[in-house]
Amino acid sequence: MPLLQKALGYVPPGTVFHTVDEVAKRLRPDVPVQCVFPEFVRGQAQKFTSQFPGRVLYAVKCNPGSEFLCHMYDAGVRHFDVASLDEVRLVRSLFKTAQLHFMHPVKSREAIRLAYKMGVRTFSLDTAAELIKILEETKSAKDLSLFVRLAVSGNSAAYDLSGKFGAAPSSAANLLRHAQKVAHKVGVCFHVGSQCMDPAAYRAAIERASAVVMKAKVKIDILDIGGGFPATYPGMKPAPLESYMNVLVDAAKPFTRQGVELWCEPGRAMVAAGASMLVRVNLRKGRRLFINDGTYGSLFDAGTLNWRYPVRLVRPLIKVGKNSKDPNSRLPSEKMVQFSFYGPTCDNLDKMKGPFLLPEDTQEGDWVEIGMMGAYGAAMKTHFNGFYASLAATVWPEAPPFIFDRASRHRSPALKKDAAVAPKLSSESSPVAVKSAR
Ligand SMILES: Cc1ncc(COP(=O)(O)O)c(C=O)c1O
Repeated sequence: MPLLQKALGYVPPGTVFHTVDEVAKRLRPDVPVQCVFPEFVRGQAQKFTSQFPGRVLYAVKCNPGSEFLCHMYDAGVRHFDVASLDEVRLVRSLFKTAQLHFMHPVKSREAIRLAYKMGVRTFSLDTAAELIKILEETKSAKDLSLFVRLAVSGNSAAYDLSGKFGAAPSSAANLLRHAQKVAHKVGVCFHVGSQCMDPAAYRAAIERASAVVMKAKVKIDILDIGGGFPATYPGMKPAPLESYMNVLVDAAKPFTRQGVELWCEPGRAMVAAGASMLVRVNLRKGRRLFINDGTYGSLFDAGTLNWRYPVRLVRPLIKVGKNSKDPNSRLPSEKMVQFSFYGPTCDNLDKMKGPFLLPEDTQEGDWVEIGMMGAYGAAMKTHFNGFYASLAATVWPEAPPFIFDRASRHRSPALKKDAAVAPKLSSESSPVAVKSAR
């Protein structure tokens, strides 16, 4: 790798690797590398925008990597759900004409004021105090779209989000009545929890929203059904996206028949399979592998929630067969055994139980590809113990190897297999350097 590139810590756009193995072979990375599969990201974005009967807002928090955002934009996503002022700045710096929606129900006054100045008109809230803040900081602007976040059950989700936000039905009805008096448009939003495994959860939440709207006697303009759409992880195989769409389209009929617009805010399902982390084994102690990424890096959910991610040994330098003196150049053992992972920091929480199935002779110096890491992976990294790394590589045309339902995978027509260069980004997104995986 050229020195400048190494010093900057990123692989510039245009540097494309055909496979994840090639990333390991050419970079021999000592830090974790986020390997991005643009075809999947673009394909998923197109799938959502074509199947959802309304407006699709990508939830930036899930993976704010510039490369992801640019592919998303290129594939037709023009609306972004932002949670902070930094996310507003990031998306605005990339796309001048994108529409940003501040769907975090608790914001600082400064965030509201500056976001409004940067063109944000949509805000969510779940208390009267937040409504007052929004009105004060926007000087009672007449062009606001205000969403009341309704509390709904998170029981069907692998990651319950019901404990923090959401107004109970009676206060939601009150808030709606107040919001209607001051806002240009009003809506109801909710979140059924991330990785929602049952489409019926959307029906229950929509019915709850319907009861609130009737109680409030308010005509809403928009129903925002939030995120929560699932991805396929080991041990979690949800129904296809189509089933979710069918249920929610049917459940939302009482709204859509009256001209209410539908919005959604998907994060995880859009990008989960869109990236793998390529990590390296620093040490082996029995069945424990000490790797260079962990709970304080991209593997937060593997550490704190014990989520199992699909893994694969990457040993790209096999030269001399089984008897080579260099153990990282030998053909790996065919026998697969269970390992647990330990991250690079000195903290006791920095371990990932797994189990992760790898060849029996996996050892120091090997790389491991951890799949399904596009959502809440690189986005969760901290600087703890000085281990922050932001190396990212574009892998194309290889598709994500860990998608279980390959047959139903949507292909992005924008990418041609025989082209020798990276997928081109649109004129608005092309000047952006892919600096960090974030
Ligand atoms: C307000 C909001 N919208 C959308 C999302 C994205 O959810 P998911 O990644 O489950 O689709 C989240 C996730 O926390 C959220 O808080």
